[in-house]
This record gives sequence, C-alpha cells and structure tokens, in this order.
Amino acid sequence: MADPAPKPLSLLLVEDSETDAELLVRDLRRHGFVPRSRRVETEADLADALEQGGWDLVISDHNLPSFSSADALRLVKQRAPDLPFILVSGSIGEDYAVEAMRNGASDFVLKDRMHRLAPAVERELREAAQRVEQRRMAAALAESEQRLRQSQRLEAIGRLAGGIAHDFNNLLAAIIGYSKLTLSSLAPDDPLRHDIEEVKLAGERAVDLTRQLLAFSRQQVLHPTLLDLNTVVDTVTRLLRRLIGEHIVLNAQTSSDLWLVKADRSQIEQIVMNLAVNARDAMEKGGTVTIATRNITIEHANQPDVPPRPGRYVSLEVSDTGVGIAPDVLPRIFEPFFTTKEAGRGTGLGLATVYGIVKQSDGYIYVSSAVGMGTVFTIYLPDTTETPTSATVPEPLDQVRS
Ligand SMILES: Nc1ncnc2c1ncn2[C@@H]1O[C@H](COP(=O)(O)OP(=O)(O)OP(=O)(O)O)[C@@H](O)[C@H]1O
Ligand SMILES: [Mg+2]
Repeated sequence: MADPAPKPLSLLLVEDSETDAELLVRDLRRHGFVPRSRRVETEADLADALEQGGWDLVISDHNLPSFSSADALRLVKQRAPDLPFILVSGSIGEDYAVEAMRNGASDFVLKDRMHRLAPAVERELREAAQRVEQRRMAAALAESEQRLRQSQRLEAIGRLAGGIAHDFNNLLAAIIGYSKLTLSSLAPDDPLRHDIEEVKLAGERAVDLTRQLLAFSRQQVLHPTLLDLNTVVDTVTRLLRRLIGEHIVLNAQTSSDLWLVKADRSQIEQIVMNLAVNARDAMEKGGTVTIATRNITIEHANQPDVPPRPGRYVSLEVSDTGVGIAPDVLPRIFEPFFTTKEAGRGTGLGLATVYGIVKQSDGYIYVSSAVGMGTVFTIYLPDTTETPTSATVPEPLDQVRS
C-alpha cells in the first residue's frame, strides 16, 4: 500500500521547553504531518506570531512559567477566533479542562496519552476547513440573495416606469402634434410662433426621457443583428475621443477573433457611450478609460462574479481610474433617476438605460468599484453561433446617438 500523502502543517507552539516541543513535532511527523513550527513562550511572542498569521493550529502547554495557558487561549480567540487551539498538559484538573473548552479550546490531551494528539490535530484541521467552506457558502448565498433582491427591485421599478412612460408618450404625442398644427397655421412673423416652438421643443425633450425609461423597462423595439462588438468599440471610440477631452486617455483593447453577438447596434453603442461619459465625469482631474472586449467561456454555474448560466459570452468592459463609487451608493446606481450629480448635470437615466438594454439583450452586467480606485463595468452578451451577414458591417459614424 502506498504511504498516505504528507500533510503540511503550520504549527504555533506555546511551550517553554524546547525538548517537549521537539518531541511533540517528532510525534506529529511520525503520523504523516510535515510541520513548520514556531515555538513561543511569552505573551508578546504569541501576539507577534498571531500578527504574522498563516497558522493552521495552536498547541499550548498548560504549565508555562511566564503566562498561563488561559491567557494564551484568550489571546488566540481574540486575534484569530477560528484557529484551533489544543491544550497539552502533564496534569490538568477536570475543572480547568472544562473551563478551557468552554472558553474556546478545541481539545485537551494529557502528556501520558500523546497517541491522542495526532488524531485530534487531524480532526481539528478537517473541521476548520469545513468551517471555512461553510462560511464561503454562506457568503455566496448572501451575495446571490442580495443580487436577486436588487434585480427584483429594478424589475418592479421598471414596470412602474414603463407604465408611466407609455401614458406620457401618448400625452406628449398630443402636445407635439397640436404644437405642429398650430405652427402650421401661424404666419411666419406671428409673435406666438416662438412660444409654440418652445412648447414643441420641450415636448420632444420629454419624448427623449420617456425613450430612456422605456429602455430601462425593456420595452423598446430592438433591431438585433449579428454584431462584432469590436466594430462598435471602433465607432464609439472615434466619437468619444472628441467628446471626453484631452485630460483623459482613451484605451481600446479589443481582442481579435471575437465571437458574434445578436444585439441592436445603436443600443450597444448607447451602452458604451453612457458608460464612457460616466467614466469621464468620474475623472475631472484626468485619468484613463479602457474599453475592452474578450471571449469568455463559463464552464460552471456557480463561479463567483460571472454570469450564472454556463455558456459562451462576449464581454465588454468599460473601466476607469476615477473617483469610484461609495458602497452605500453602489446598490442604487441602476435605478432610474438616481444620480449623485448636481441638478441640471445628470438625469440619472444613463445606467438605467444600460441595464434595460443589457437585460433585453439577454445579457448580464456587473460593476465593481472602490472609492479612489476607479470603477469597472462588465457586460456579458451571449455568443451566437449563426453565421455573419452583411448586417455586421459598421454603420456610418453620425448614426451613433449621444
Ligand atoms: N464610472 C463611474 N464612476 C463613479 N461613479 C459612477 C460611475 N458611473 C456611474 N456612477 C454613479 O452612478 C450614478 C448614476 O449614473 P447614471 O449614468 O445612471 O446617471 P448620471 O450619470 O448621474 O446622469 P445621466 O447619465 O442621466 O446624465 C452617477 O450619478 C454616479 O454617482
Ligand atoms: Mg450617466
């Protein structure tokens, strides 16, 4: 039978006797462990070792001249609550052992029963690994619940916004229509002409707003074609270079042989524009915006930070080196009319529109940001296996809506 695989072990020993420490390490080695150990015998040294971190387990002698094992236990539980702590002693009163277990010790082993040590170490390591895994799963669950809640909230706001936008559109059609009728019946020099033109203009601006609301509530009429996202990036970056000012560096990192996606070209251009304009606004003192494309294959459903459905995607990433987004603001940025910009500068519809278009195109959008470190928006659009048609040829520049 083959020897069992050696088990690496980072061992922190609270022990005043070097000989006892060596015996203990030798015993563990005999049981297949490969210990890397540090021996400490004062509270300051223990604190220093805990600060250094990276330990799998603490084994502490009960009888220490300079401080008690109870002090050692307290310090370990304070600084590294998850670190298993095994008490070893030549003599330990039952009361003390119970007290130690109550205070968080994992186990205690009497020195004349050292054969119990290796199995105890083994069990503690296994349980510690399980605790880490449980915590990881609980965190993943909490995160996916939070995502679900957020998307349900956006869904509800979307329905409301979409309903209002429809009714508004009908009213606006009447306002614009009657303005036009009135204008056509007025003489060219009529003093009322200017006023009615203003009414018509305001109506048209309002139509633009409702168009964005409809985009958010995924009720736009899309014209999907087979699309090479690189051609979208090319078109939009040419336009953006003029728009974003010289204090900002614009980088396009398109990867070659990009798969095709099925999406509405002008809507995807709108996405890149909205994200890039936000990036510009986040970098008043200058910085870099990077627009990148990449092929991505998702193998497993539960990889963190990637789309939940396995499959082939093309990712479109817009990142900046700007001010970043505060954690309390982050959950709200896709809501319509949420803005942190001063009145008159932002309507708060940019990201709501992006979200709606991405969702209506069967895609996913993720954001990660840290204050002072910049922001990354990543969009995944499903790859389509259809063969390209002439529709993938880029349209002229002036068809990009800003
Ligand atoms: N790249 C970014 N860096 C920092 N903050 C951002 C970034 N993108 C969005 N935000 C934050 O999200 C908010 C909402 O963005 P959104 O594009 O929806 O609206 P807006 O830019 O404020 O207004 P609008 O786009 O309608 O003119 C912004 O006000 C800003 O606080
Ligand atoms: Mg914006």
